[in-house]
Amino acid sequence: MPGIVILGSQWGDEGKGKVTDLLADDMDMVVRYQGGNNAGHTIVCDQDVLKLHLVPSGILYPHIVPVIGNGVVVNPKVLLEEMDDLTARGIDVSRLRLSSAAHIILPCHEALDRLAEEQRGGARLGTTNRGIGPAYADKASRLGLRLQDMVDPKHFTEKLKTTLALKNALITKVYGGEPLDLAEVISTYAGYAERLRGLVTDTPLLIKRALAEGENVLFEGAQGTMLDLDHGTYPYVTSSSSTAGGACTGSGVGPFDLSEVIGVTKAYVTRVGLGPFPTEQDNRIGEAMQEVGQEFGTTTGRRRRCGWFDMVIMRYAVRVNSMTSIAITKLDVLSQFESLKVCTGYRCGDQVLSEVPVDLAGFGACEPIYQELPGWSSHIGGATSFDELPVQARDYLEFVQREAGIPIRLISVGPERNQTILLDGASRRLEKSKLIYRDDLPI
Ligand code: GDP
Ligand code: IMO
Ligand code: MG
Repeated sequence: MPGIVILGSQWGDEGKGKVTDLLADDMDMVVRYQGGNNAGHTIVCDQDVLKLHLVPSGILYPHIVPVIGNGVVVNPKVLLEEMDDLTARGIDVSRLRLSSAAHIILPCHEALDRLAEEQRGGARLGTTNRGIGPAYADKASRLGLRLQDMVDPKHFTEKLKTTLALKNALITKVYGGEPLDLAEVISTYAGYAERLRGLVTDTPLLIKRALAEGENVLFEGAQGTMLDLDHGTYPYVTSSSSTAGGACTGSGVGPFDLSEVIGVTKAYVTRVGLGPFPTEQDNRIGEAMQEVGQEFGTTTGRRRRCGWFDMVIMRYAVRVNSMTSIAITKLDVLSQFESLKVCTGYRCGDQVLSEVPVDLAGFGACEPIYQELPGWSSHIGGATSFDELPVQARDYLEFVQREAGIPIRLISVGPERNQTILLDGASRRLEKSKLIYRDDLPI
């Protein structure tokens, strides 16, 4: 059985945690393949709220093997805290497996993330300050330390000496910061290694064996398409591949091992951190979305910027991910509006664009072209089927599906597991609604 990828279509926080947790019931393994503890994935089960930063969202099911793949950057302190929290809640974490090739986040990475942001001043990126960028930079420049180094004390000390000497020079001489103490880092990380050693393994082999045995493997993405290092709004992106290709490189499988790519998509758009956001509503509409949708960053608590649904980004995400279906979330948050806007194209100077511009300056200058759709002013959090939704909500979903050119497979109408409508056979109307391709779009 091939693998299924779940990823974000927008700028993160689309509800990947909820969707992964839901679909994990039918899976045997859930693999996180990129990002680190910049991610914050929320699962709500019987009003119990679980916020996961590193542990894959399948952890709640005892039959799942949760895997942290080689593409993830692991902060062992955060991982252990998360494991302890889960254990305290009665969840067994002993099934967790960690890739020996995953790079580790060191205190110097966190310090450098902070110092670099301070140095950038007004041009800062608005990172989560979790050391993600510096850790991936060290991986690319072949200075990084991996989990396999951490669990081998002699190796770790030798490698860390070299890396930390360079990092301390950077911290003190370039940024005027405080150096890190080598002995202290060695002893702290020796403690982490002691606890994690038994979980570190050859995860690409583990995943491949599961696939070969016909098991169902879910690849859980972090961040979102527009935060991808290559395909996002660079430099206002994260430092890993959050698009579908990252599922292969970040877990050690090939593209033919993947059969489905599900794009988790908020019914409007949010963004934490800085960078262009054409449909942003820096006004009462955005504030209302923020309040009703409780749009505060899961990791940093920052207010999420909010705006109308952007079809240009949606089509882009479908294209760069070879997305096969959509899981649409937070539809309930739109219930408050009498009418809704969907951006179908951009006006940029005297040009009308149906694609995301390749240059950031162009993207920043884009004015959205909106199509207005009627809202529904009723509570939909209790809807259990597509047909129970108000006609305006059904029309909204059909519009999104038609313009995206791929089917909606899941509709989320609230944070709880049971506030979900699965569309496998549940909605004849939505299934039958005619799909059109981007080139046919009337803009
Ligand atoms: P992720 O990073 O993509 O996993 O998303 P986050 O967990 O950071 O943010 C999504 C937030 O929306 C969480 O607080 C979820 O509990 C919540 N959520 C998910 N789906 C829905 C939904 O359909 N309706 C509402 N109101 N909240 C939802
Ligand atoms: P999940 O998985 C939303 C954003 C940060 C910042 C940029 C770079 O919960 O969807 P970084 O610390 O990665 O160097 O920050 O990326 N960012 C996220 N925004 N959700 C996330 O993860 C994010 N992870 C990083 O706010 O703009
Ligand atoms: Mg999140």
